[in-house]
Amino acid sequence: MNEQIVILDFGSQYTQVIARRIRECAVYSTILPFDTPAKEIKKLAPKGIILSGGPASVYDSEAPKPDRKIFSLGVPVLGICYGLQVIGHFLGGKIERGLKREFGKGTLRVKKASPLFRGLAKSMQVWNSHGDKLTQLPKGFTPVAVTENSDFAVVQDLKRQIFGLQFHPEVVHTPKGMTLIQNFVYRICGCGKRWTMRKYVEQAVEEIRVQVGDERVILGLSGGVDSSVAAALIHKAIGKQLTCIFVNNGLLRANEDTAVRELFGRNFDMRLQYENASAEFLKKLKGVTNPERKRKIIGGTFIKVFQAATKRAGKAKFLAQGTLYPDVIESVPIAGNPASMIKSHHNVGGLPKNMKFELLEPLKCLFKDEVRLLGEELGLPKEVVQRQPFPGPGLAVRILGDVTRERLRILRESDSIVVEEMKNNDWYYKIWQSFAVLLPIRSVGVMGDVRTYEYTIALRAVESKDGMTADWVKLPYDLLERISNRIINEVKGANRVCMDISSKPPATIEWE
Ligand code: XMP
Repeated sequence: MNEQIVILDFGSQYTQVIARRIRECAVYSTILPFDTPAKEIKKLAPKGIILSGGPASVYDSEAPKPDRKIFSLGVPVLGICYGLQVIGHFLGGKIERGLKREFGKGTLRVKKASPLFRGLAKSMQVWNSHGDKLTQLPKGFTPVAVTENSDFAVVQDLKRQIFGLQFHPEVVHTPKGMTLIQNFVYRICGCGKRWTMRKYVEQAVEEIRVQVGDERVILGLSGGVDSSVAAALIHKAIGKQLTCIFVNNGLLRANEDTAVRELFGRNFDMRLQYENASAEFLKKLKGVTNPERKRKIIGGTFIKVFQAATKRAGKAKFLAQGTLYPDVIESVPIAGNPASMIKSHHNVGGLPKNMKFELLEPLKCLFKDEVRLLGEELGLPKEVVQRQPFPGPGLAVRILGDVTRERLRILRESDSIVVEEMKNNDWYYKIWQSFAVLLPIRSVGVMGDVRTYEYTIALRAVESKDGMTADWVKLPYDLLERISNRIINEVKGANRVCMDISSKPPATIEWE
């Protein structure tokens, strides 16, 4: 059995973030419901138990409570926030209802030696988000560290190896939080670094096989990172029981459809159903200039095409999706809340509810960078796993105004030059996105002795962590010069190149 840490989930929005931090320690973890019986937990022989935070107060009648026997399993326990209050409440301490939440940054001062703080300074910044607080320690406990508002911000019972933190070590706003978690996992629980992506694959493959059995699975493959990694993983688990449907909406970048078919159909030998619906999409988009209408038409047409394709694919019980953890959590609408840091870009508005499939979402617990590592482990090439984001509505939102075949050609050729030059100069993988946009205005130019009157291409290159905010990238002049020269010389129909130097907000990354 894997050496593991059990995380009991009391409903915190950060529970998955805790799991991720444990994975970063190269240790396996399992998230279980807060009330999992101690004897079930014991069967897993965990090296440690973490009690997550949660929105409740231990005094609420409905408050989630664990099985009290978890404290006598002889396994180290770490309570975080609400988890600390559970420890206080169960072991005979006193919790006071907070009249207002303590929320935001605080300074922690360490007063007493603790294995949790090995290698850490006596003072550190921490992130609080709690209502109630511990005001009297349970027997056997000693205070370890204080904050402005709490004498019991960190407490421990070294004999029973039970520890409690009032703040959240798992979020980025507790900069040294990872060291605390490592101290718990390695020093206190004695775990080794044994958990690797290879093991993750083995386990995920096993879980998919159990869930799917002999049934068939359909997956909408876009060629983006998430659906590609989901496809490779599921294919490894169930081979030909998986059918990937790849819709060409006519709005893809140059060579994209060939590359996807080549990689998945040929190299991976997957059952790949190719649906070329370009003509249908372009017909529906004819004359449409309003950005929102374009998006609606593309979304609606995709659903229709995909639904028809699933019928042709034959009976399947499961629909697989490359949903990631940040797509699952709801961002919390409180300014500065770290949970909003892990919310990535918006996604296209899903498939209709009336499609009668069970969902298979094998990436649901992972974050984007972990999905990239998983993709590498599965043998996907760098061009796929490190690919920049590309919007569902494709090039249609990068051609302002009417989308025509001619404009698509101009944009594709320009975009290929941008991508090629960015790759050649080692910029492509360093930044969030870099692409071309076609502006439907013509300007006068001169080529040789001939007057031209052609379109303008805008270059967009942005730096971002999650797509929510972005800064334009100060690319070197010689690179900009090369891109501009090549587009104007090589792309028939474009005679001017501009650079978009707006940040988000107030501008967005895509132009529509
Ligand atoms: P905006 O333009 O809103 O884009 O600043 C933020 C990020 O999201 C990507 N994007 C999309 N991704 N479907 C997607 O899957 C979409 O409809 C969509 N629209 C924008 C965009 O490329 C950027 O990375």
